[in-house]
Amino acid sequence: MSLMGFGYAKTILFGEHFVVYGVPAIAAAVDRKTAVWAETNKGRGLEIVADEKKHNVDTLKIVTKALAEKMGVEADVKLFVATEIPIGSGMGSSAAFCVATARALADCFRKKVVDEEVSRMAYGGEKLLHGNPSGIDNTVSTFGGLIWFKRNLQGGSNTTERLKLKKPAEIVIGNSGKQGNTKEMVAAVRARKEKELEKYEGIFKEAEKLVLAARKNLMDYKLEEVGRLMNENFVLLQEIGVSTKELDKMCKAAVEAGAFGAKLTGAGGGGCMIALCKEGESGQVAKAIEKLGFTTLQTRIGV
Ligand code: PMV
Repeated sequence: MSLMGFGYAKTILFGEHFVVYGVPAIAAAVDRKTAVWAETNKGRGLEIVADEKKHNVDTLKIVTKALAEKMGVEADVKLFVATEIPIGSGMGSSAAFCVATARALADCFRKKVVDEEVSRMAYGGEKLLHGNPSGIDNTVSTFGGLIWFKRNLQGGSNTTERLKLKKPAEIVIGNSGKQGNTKEMVAAVRARKEKELEKYEGIFKEAEKLVLAARKNLMDYKLEEVGRLMNENFVLLQEIGVSTKELDKMCKAAVEAGAFGAKLTGAGGGGCMIALCKEGESGQVAKAIEKLGFTTLQTRIGV
């Protein structure tokens, strides 16, 4: 029996890194997915066939075994992994793998697993990969849509709310082509925060103000203001040292080409940026980024 599960890619509009410490964040699913097919492989153990050479199959095996254990099944399965999400790009490829695999295993072993449980299991997988994830990636990857997320630092349930936009908004995602390492980036921010506590507390307070204002302006569909807040959020991310010269260049080009605002998205240190665009103008923004030699994805959030 071969059954399929999928998980969405995501982009963080506001609050990456700060979200790890309990600051709310806003993220959206992007119409790119990872699909996993699982078929029983009795007596032959776990095999994974991945379409993307950049996948580390040994790591995927560790995660799959943990997911199977959580589900109470033997990891005697053969998985086929196909992804449309660039790996290590800040678009949540690892969470999408965890979500897709949890769903595929559940189907394969005829277990009824509701989405909340899929997300929780994927969080367990993310922990193995990233150490101290906030939980935002697995949440968006499971449920899709536009999400307001606040981590519960006491370990209880996180706050997640579906945000509804008046109409979808155009975005461009630009990929620096360099892989970022989420675990290392999160650890580096922690180390710097410990050294310069006062400065970082100020930055975190500012990040909280920005995300609250962003929520209100998104709900009022004041995209120009949302873009301005994204630019401010980007400055904070530069201050905590997670941007790169490629991400800086792409964001500058996007704003010069008319985007309402732009910032890196995800853990940084490589990976992607996001630009919020006026309706009908994402093409010219994408072109400006591509002119610098980077690849882009034009899509919409809040669909
Ligand atoms: O793994 P990425 O690059 O999609 O981004 C993760 C977002 C962080 O806030 C940096 C970490 C987290 O767990 O929330």
